[in-house]
Amino acid sequence: MSKTYPVKSNFNELLEKSGLSPKEASEILDVSERTIYRWINGDSKPKSLACKLVKDLSEKANTLSVKRKAEFKYIDLFAGIGGFRKAFDSIGGHCVFTSEWDKNSRITYQANYQCDHDLVGDIRGFTQDEESLKLIPEHDVLVAGFPCQPFSIAGVSKKNSLGKAHGFKCDTQGTLFFDLAQIIEYHEPKAFLLENVKNLVSHDKGNTFKVIKRTLEEELGYFISHKVIDARYWVPQHRERIFIVGFKKDLGFGFDNFSVPDFNPLLETILHNPNEEDELPFFIDGNVADKYTLTPKLWDYLVSYKAKHRAKGNGFGFSLTNEKGVSRTLSARYYKDGSEILIDQKGKRPRRLTPRECARLMGFDNFGESNFKIPVSDTQAYRQFGNAVVVPVAKSIAEMMLPYIQAAINIPDNQLEIPLHEIESKIAANG
Ligand SMILES: C[S@@+](CC[C@H](N)C(=O)[O-])C[C@H]1O[C@@H](n2cnc3c(N)ncnc32)[C@H](O)[C@@H]1O
Repeated sequence: MSKTYPVKSNFNELLEKSGLSPKEASEILDVSERTIYRWINGDSKPKSLACKLVKDLSEKANTLSVKRKAEFKYIDLFAGIGGFRKAFDSIGGHCVFTSEWDKNSRITYQANYQCDHDLVGDIRGFTQDEESLKLIPEHDVLVAGFPCQPFSIAGVSKKNSLGKAHGFKCDTQGTLFFDLAQIIEYHEPKAFLLENVKNLVSHDKGNTFKVIKRTLEEELGYFISHKVIDARYWVPQHRERIFIVGFKKDLGFGFDNFSVPDFNPLLETILHNPNEEDELPFFIDGNVADKYTLTPKLWDYLVSYKAKHRAKGNGFGFSLTNEKGVSRTLSARYYKDGSEILIDQKGKRPRRLTPRECARLMGFDNFGESNFKIPVSDTQAYRQFGNAVVVPVAKSIAEMMLPYIQAAINIPDNQLEIPLHEIESKIAANG
């Protein structure tokens, strides 16, 4: 049976130039969002009329993008390799500050994004006092995939009984959420987007999330909405993450209206395929480089580890899949043995994903493309992709936030209670 492979699609380029999101394109072209994604990924050929319409729109992109883009300033904290950077640049944001303490992640970040500011390291150096907080430039939006460093409020009652201050300054001291909260308190961005692992909600029987929510809502005065989202509808990977959006003004933003695309891509969309150009050191002469095939020793170890656990009645161990599958969550430890995502190979031991395939699995590259620069070792690249946010998920959230960000920027501070639809018509009236 002949196999079809995703090809680079011209439609995708036109769509990017037009500035339309897949959802907007599906509305304008009157086809399902799933169809749009199939056209983007080259799985099926777009109708010629649709291509013409998107081409016309892309030619008018200058005028369109002026209207679509908010031109707001944002800061990228715990930036990693810039999953949020890609998303917020795409909706017209201008990044004015980046903090990431890992040297190798900074190398990847700098290779992929234009920066008119220095990349700074440890964010804790900017939260010591008012003077250091002032070094962070003014911004409209703050984005942060803060590390999943859990904290417990178990010690709080003890501190309270000693007469210390209540609130996040006491409850979260020593955690990176504390630093984040200090920045929000000082700079009062109009909006923020935070990301963390799904278990944040259940950690310490829900107490950790309770403190976070109380801090953001009651102490810092934000209207927040959160949702656990599985990236599986954008990329062929199960990856559940919690996203928390906050707005300083009550503009009615809520995840209730957030919908996932009607799209279930399979691993074949991200795997190297024989039609692709060679890319050293990942893909040579139409084949994935041998170094990604597991050594006999490692494969034997993984097989016996799984058998041992199966005998005890649990399902720990490697996960073997193929081009028709959907992967488990790529983790930062993938470089160790690759066990969570192994690709079956006919007549051969399984292999790991290459870093390029990881870039596609995380949405840093579109399916079938190899544009994201990977200037670091495989070990570092796996770590970086495993820590990152899935770009198209972040983009979908950014696109949903965009009109609210525009509204927050456009309405005067003394008008807090205007419903968004009125604000939108005011913005439209002002061109
Ligand atoms: C969950 S990852 C976020 C990844 C990012 N969203 C992306 O798309 O690549 C958290 C990042 O925070 C960085 N980090 C941890 N502690 C930090 C600190 N104190 N200051 C600055 N960066 C820090 C880590 O190196 C890691 O890259």
